[in-house]
Amino acid sequence: MDDSLRQAVNLLSSAARVAALTGAGVSKESGIPTFRDAQTGLWAQYDPTQLATPQAFRRAPRLVWDFYEYRRELMRPAQPNPAHIALAQLERRVPQFTLITQNVDDLHERAGSIHIIRLHGQIHRNKCFNACRGEPTYVDVAALEWDRAAGPPKCPHCEAFVRPDVVWFGEALPAVALSAAQSASATAEVMLIVGTSGMVTPAADLPYIARQSGAALIEFNPLPSAITPIVNLHIAETAGVALPRLLAALEERHGA
Ligand code: OAD
Repeated sequence: MDDSLRQAVNLLSSAARVAALTGAGVSKESGIPTFRDAQTGLWAQYDPTQLATPQAFRRAPRLVWDFYEYRRELMRPAQPNPAHIALAQLERRVPQFTLITQNVDDLHERAGSIHIIRLHGQIHRNKCFNACRGEPTYVDVAALEWDRAAGPPKCPHCEAFVRPDVVWFGEALPAVALSAAQSASATAEVMLIVGTSGMVTPAADLPYIARQSGAALIEFNPLPSAITPIVNLHIAETAGVALPRLLAALEERHGA
């Protein structure tokens, strides 16, 4: 067992409260491009930060809807990878484990993670743009018929456009989710930071909250991130390789 893995096992072995913060890097080995990977094909000409905003949706609802349909299509064949599975296994080993994700795919759920806090929503869910029956007013678009060439479907309750249930730039994060993530970070003894560039707040503030509360931070990222300067341990490896190795080492130390 190499030294960084041994240090990670030592930090996790006695921890009763663990939080994990994941970003797009944890889904990379499932074939989903990270947020800052260059868009391909038709979408290469667009900057995602110019499409993922309420203003863009008001200005060009069909373009923004089609951008999310493209991303949902990309995600459809994706399967949970060994990193998602290892995090679900870790949850079963730790008395109090909270998974906080910035990702909008459903791979953590499909890998078996249970206690998940979603900071940026869920791309496979849709809701009324006007939140006509409260935020969120979910809409099941599979039950709707609409002219796809004309753009997004309309809310069956108020005729406003339907939008993806994801947090757009300039929008507040779901307050309950953010508060729960901040609490989990403030009480964690160890925080795993997996596959995030750490550039987008308030998600990127969570490791600072954890550290200020005395948590040990372990980062899994092949590259340095904005969080790396404050972590106790940076495992410069892909999550799909490093996390299963960590689980195997924990099982070796403590039994399956
Ligand atoms: P980014 O694309 O900013 O960063 C992805 C990180 O994953 C980078 O640091 C990569 O080095 C790392 N990475 C790549 N492959 C990896 C692998 N196999 N294993 C581990 N790490 C790997 O994505 P996020 O940090 O998730 O917000 O971006 C955060 C937020 O910025 C997104 O949730 C999105 C965007 O604005 C909203 O949509 C609101």
